[in-house]
Amino acid sequence: MSTQQQQPVLSLRNLTRVHGSGATEVHALRGIDLDVHPGELVAVMGPSGSGKSTLLTIAGGLDNPTSGQVFVEGTDITALGVNGLAALRRRSIGYVFQDYNLIPALTAAENVALPRELDGISARKARTEALAALAEMDLGQLADRFPDEMSGGQQQRVAIARALVGDRRLVLADEPTGALDSETGESVLALLRSRCDAGAAGIMVTHEPRFAAWADRVVFLRDGAVVDQTLRSDADSLLTGRAAQR
Ligand SMILES: Nc1ncnc2c1ncn2[C@@H]1O[C@H](COP(=O)(O)OP(=O)(O)OP(=O)(O)O)[C@@H](O)[C@H]1O
Ligand SMILES: [Mg+2]
Repeated sequence: MSTQQQQPVLSLRNLTRVHGSGATEVHALRGIDLDVHPGELVAVMGPSGSGKSTLLTIAGGLDNPTSGQVFVEGTDITALGVNGLAALRRRSIGYVFQDYNLIPALTAAENVALPRELDGISARKARTEALAALAEMDLGQLADRFPDEMSGGQQQRVAIARALVGDRRLVLADEPTGALDSETGESVLALLRSRCDAGAAGIMVTHEPRFAAWADRVVFLRDGAVVDQTLRSDADSLLTGRAAQR
């Protein structure tokens, strides 16, 4: 079945975000419409300051739009209360921050287990899941280290494990490969890709065409607006001379 026939996991409707007011007003997003379906991985590219992180934080319920709507699995999250939003974020949304945002006082395993424990599963089960997610990121040996005892790339992989633990339906990743060497970056992308192939919807911000090539679709932002979209199948057919298969 075509993914287009299913309800999108994420729908952004005429989203705007203005930071500040008066002379310092910045129009970070100007009327964004975007749907991401189950199984889809979308790459967002664009110059520094074009609104990529703003788009992701609003899609993840971490910031509010100035106008417009954000639907996650059909629920308008801008209309949810604080508790409802927090619960939806823990259950449905995995978020990889541009600067990792690990909790310094918790070990790698505790950081990864935290969202699951907050969601009410037993500490023991949460730890088992956390260790499995860390092992997937090749970090099994570092489970009991604190963030300041790990390299930047290792912290980034812990942050990715935390976003993927517990089968979230929507995975949002802001430059998830920023601190990684290219081989580790590719393995992170392969993991994101397999999560989407299993039915999740994903958006990742990246500056690297090599990593964007893992996505089904690339969305280009400039000055807060979508200026171009490319299907991977379009690019493939240009390269191979064959008609798009999708
Ligand atoms: N809290 C804020 N207050 C005021 N302006 C902000 C705030 N956050 C972002 N902006 C502005 O909004 C615009 C978009 O910022 P955003 O962080 O979304 O860009 P970006 O595409 O993620 O850039 P980068 O590639 O450098 O991470 C920029 O002009 C930025 O200065
Ligand atoms: Mg950014």
